[in-house]
Amino acid sequence: SQVKLNPLIKMHKDACDFYHHVLLTTRAGERGMKYARERELSDEILEHFQIGYAPKQDNLLLTYLHDKGYEDDELAKSGLFVESQDGCLFDRFRDRLMFPLGNESGQIIGFSGRRISQDKTEAKYMNSPETEIFTKSKVLFHFAEAKKAARSEGHLILYEGYMDVISAYKAGVHSGIASMGTSLTDQQVYMLRRITPNIIINYDGDDPGVHAEERAAHMFEKVGGFNLGIVVLPEKLDPDEYVKKYGAEKYRDEVKGALSPTDFFLKRLAQKYNLSNDRERITYLSEAVKEIAHLSNPVEQDIYLEKVAKQEGVSKDSLKVNLMRERRRQN
Ligand code: CTP
Ligand code: MN
Ligand code: MN
Ligand code: MN
Ligand code: MN
Repeated sequence: SQVKLNPLIKMHKDACDFYHHVLLTTRAGERGMKYARERELSDEILEHFQIGYAPKQDNLLLTYLHDKGYEDDELAKSGLFVESQDGCLFDRFRDRLMFPLGNESGQIIGFSGRRISQDKTEAKYMNSPETEIFTKSKVLFHFAEAKKAARSEGHLILYEGYMDVISAYKAGVHSGIASMGTSLTDQQVYMLRRITPNIIINYDGDDPGVHAEERAAHMFEKVGGFNLGIVVLPEKLDPDEYVKKYGAEKYRDEVKGALSPTDFFLKRLAQKYNLSNDRERITYLSEAVKEIAHLSNPVEQDIYLEKVAKQEGVSKDSLKVNLMRERRRQN
């Protein structure tokens, strides 16, 4: 049986083709192309990610879609336009590099537009509003493609930004996806769960990024059944900046060196204390034991007890005594 295609999905495909065409072949797109090259986006990358440019002047998208026969009421609910008081439609996205956002089967359902002007009063990224077909909390950039790559790469990698997914892709990591900003949702966690239990989180190396990694790790742990790795990049770099600075091979090494959640938490914990002060060191050790006590696998417990004991120059046995006490308290 023939499934009727939502007209808004068809319209988004047309809009995507339009923006892409403007970027690659028109005068109006030259500004966009200049920016794309500054961000080191090759033709091949522009093609793979179907990146486009929303021109600065006039209502070019509106005119284009009108000419294709779309009616005003359809256009009005697409999210691609803003409506004035008197009901006139205007292109929503202007002078932005356009990243199409797909649903689980890769059909385009919305856009995010990167500001290319220097005008910091404008939002860096502008997103489609919620529509019949676009639900922000369920969208993962590059999901349909990454799903396929996950089969060979054995995992999915979660990023903060579109440019991070793209630079990782250039570095040979094709299983990258991004939620829109740092706030991962439960729906997205369940979407990933259906693809693979192996998730690597690689948000930006700055404080908000690392904080968001902690939050994301807890969300995955709450749902359960995941095998998590967490990458913390140095110098507060985001993956895009890291690849530019250190290259593809170094980046892939960072991914291979992803920390287990326990290692990640212990490392974060250690940073909160001055470990050359005995009082603080004792508090750190008791917090560390609490963290290790969460683990259900005794072999894992043993590995981390050993690590912490070695690091802090105390006996594993004394930590173990505290761990048993802690576990009795937790039960
Ligand atoms: N974001 C957003 N709106 C903003 C800023 C950010 O929706 N005003 C989302 C985007 O999805 C962005 C992600 O949050 O990709 C991460 O934000 P940030 O690290 O600030 O941006 P980058 O991805 O590093 O963007 P760029 O490299 O283009 O500066
Ligand atoms: Mn960031
Ligand atoms: Mn970033
Ligand atoms: Mn960036
Ligand atoms: Mn915990």
